[in-house]
Amino acid sequence: MKKTILICIIAIFSIPCFSQQKEQVDIDKKVETFFQKHGGWYDMNVPASDGKLLYDLILENNYQQALEIGTSTGHSTIWMAWALSKTGGKLITIEIDKTRHQEALENFKEAGVDHIIDARLANAHELVPNLTGPFDFVFSDADKGWYQRYFEAVDPKLKVGGCYTTHNVSDRPGVRWNQDYLKFLQRLNHYETTVNNSGGGMAISFKRADR
Ligand SMILES: C[S@@+](CC[C@H](N)C(=O)[O-])C[C@H]1O[C@@H](n2cnc3c(N)ncnc32)[C@H](O)[C@@H]1O
Repeated sequence: MKKTILICIIAIFSIPCFSQQKEQVDIDKKVETFFQKHGGWYDMNVPASDGKLLYDLILENNYQQALEIGTSTGHSTIWMAWALSKTGGKLITIEIDKTRHQEALENFKEAGVDHIIDARLANAHELVPNLTGPFDFVFSDADKGWYQRYFEAVDPKLKVGGCYTTHNVSDRPGVRWNQDYLKFLQRLNHYETTVNNSGGGMAISFKRADR
C-alpha cells in the first residue's frame, strides 16, 4: 500500500516535468526547422555566428530578462528567444519599421517562440528610457549614432552580473564606425568589455558593479 502511494506521488510530480521537456523538444524542433528553411537573411540581420554567440551568452549565464533594440525581421531575436526558452526567460524587442516588425511577428510564430517575445513597434529613442526593467541581458543593434544614449538609458536598469552586448563595433574595410562608442564602453570602470570579432563585431560588456 505504502509503495503504491509513493509511486502515485512520484508520478504526479513527474507529469509537469515531462510536459516541460516535451515543450522544449517541440521548440527546439521548430526553431531548427525554421533556421533550415530560412537560410538567407537580408534585412541587416546578424550573421548566424553572432546569433549563436547571443544564444550562448544567455544560456551560460542563465539570463532571463532580455531587451533587444533593433528587431528588424527577427533573426537575432529568435536566437535569443530560443536560449530564453531554456532559461525560462522573456524578451522585449523594439523595431521602428512597420513592415519589418510585421515580418518579425510572422517569423516568431513560425519558429515557435512568439510566446517568449514582447515585440514593440516603436521609436526606441522614446521607448527605451521609459522601460522599467530590470534586465539582465541587452542586445543593442539599432541606429549606431544613438548607441551611447541607449546604453546610458539602460545601464541603471541592468542588474549587476548582467551583460550588455552591442553589434558592429569593429572597423571593417572602408568602414570606421562606432570607435568612439567602443572607447566609451572600455572606459567604464563598472563594466568589463571585450570584443568578439567572429561575426559583425560584438562588444560584450559584463556589469561588475552598480557604479
Ligand atoms: C541592424 S538591424 C537589426 C537586425 C536584427 N537585430 C537582426 O539580427 O535580425 C537595425 C534595425 O533597427 C531599426 N531601427 C533603427 N532606428 C530605430 C529606432 N530609433 N527605434 C527602433 N528601431 C530602430 C531599423 O529599422 C532596423 O530594422
